[in-house]
Amino acid sequence: MVTTRTHPLLTAPAQAGAVTPCANAASASADPAYWQAAMPLLSVRSIEVVYDEVILVLRGLSLDVPQGAIVALLGANGAGKSTTLKAISGLLKTENGAVTRGEIVFGGQRIDGTDPDRIVRRGIFQVMEGRRIIADMTVLENLQLGAFTRRDRENVARDLDMVLTYFPRLRERTGLAGYLSGGEQQMLAIGRALMARPTMILMDEPSMGLSPLLVKEVFAIIRDINRTLGVTVLLVEQNTRAALSVASYGYVMDQGKVVLDGTADELRNNEDIKEFYLGGAGEQRKSFKNLKSYRRRKRWL
Ligand SMILES: Nc1ncnc2c1ncn2[C@@H]1O[C@H](COP(=O)(O)OP(=O)(O)OP(=O)(O)O)[C@@H](O)[C@H]1O
Ligand SMILES: [Mg+2]
Repeated sequence: MVTTRTHPLLTAPAQAGAVTPCANAASASADPAYWQAAMPLLSVRSIEVVYDEVILVLRGLSLDVPQGAIVALLGANGAGKSTTLKAISGLLKTENGAVTRGEIVFGGQRIDGTDPDRIVRRGIFQVMEGRRIIADMTVLENLQLGAFTRRDRENVARDLDMVLTYFPRLRERTGLAGYLSGGEQQMLAIGRALMARPTMILMDEPSMGLSPLLVKEVFAIIRDINRTLGVTVLLVEQNTRAALSVASYGYVMDQGKVVLDGTADELRNNEDIKEFYLGGAGEQRKSFKNLKSYRRRKRWL
């Protein structure tokens, strides 16, 4: 089923709460280019994910990522953020997980159930949590590995050079990747993703284990890659502040569902987000469900 849902960023009402005039929508709908531009690049629609055929982890999760955007996916430990990324990249299959309901549409085509290598060829590359670089290979070998699905071998050397200009530290590291610092490993993991020339990168907690200074550096690079190469990014983070500094839109997950979404500004100014994720969360707050806006929203639905 193809729906014509559009991402709030794409319909872009001038002010929050503004209603898009129907007359506008009707005249624009005659132009196929309008719909093409208005369709999100990635659309996750009410998916359920089950591990080992019995463990239900995602319970009707939906989100949209417009072309060229950085969208943040936030939430506490165990909310299902990594599972969402793996559902999109097809890596769920490697963990005996499956999308059992809903659909994932990328560039207008369904990709749920597709093998991970085919999804890479379609243009989605996941940078896994914990970096997952190959420790006993060199930096260059790791980067070349990112290009393994490419048919245009003649451009690989040039892209290698481009990646090393984004990450000048890596150029100096000629030894095994296992000896790189945590920050350098994170950069290598992102660089390896770029070597696949992806349309979209899924990043799982790039800030994990990095000093505040390095977090800044890595996020500046993510923003740069997005702006200069036009790579669309879905960014999973527990570091809400860092994520909202680069993302234009964000979703907050709790227990396998989206419980809140909005522009980065809306989320930064949301009282519950401030309390729960931007400092000041008390120990008694075990779940986003306890929070006011979630309860309010539930009453409205
Ligand atoms: N391979 C698996 N098999 C069974 N259950 C799993 C598997 N991977 C994750 N889960 C469960 O799914 C739930 C969501 O896990 P997930 O890793 O997606 O959360 P997360 O939001 O990424 O958490 P974190 O912030 O800690 O990385 C957890 O309860 C977890 O135990
Ligand atoms: Mg995770």
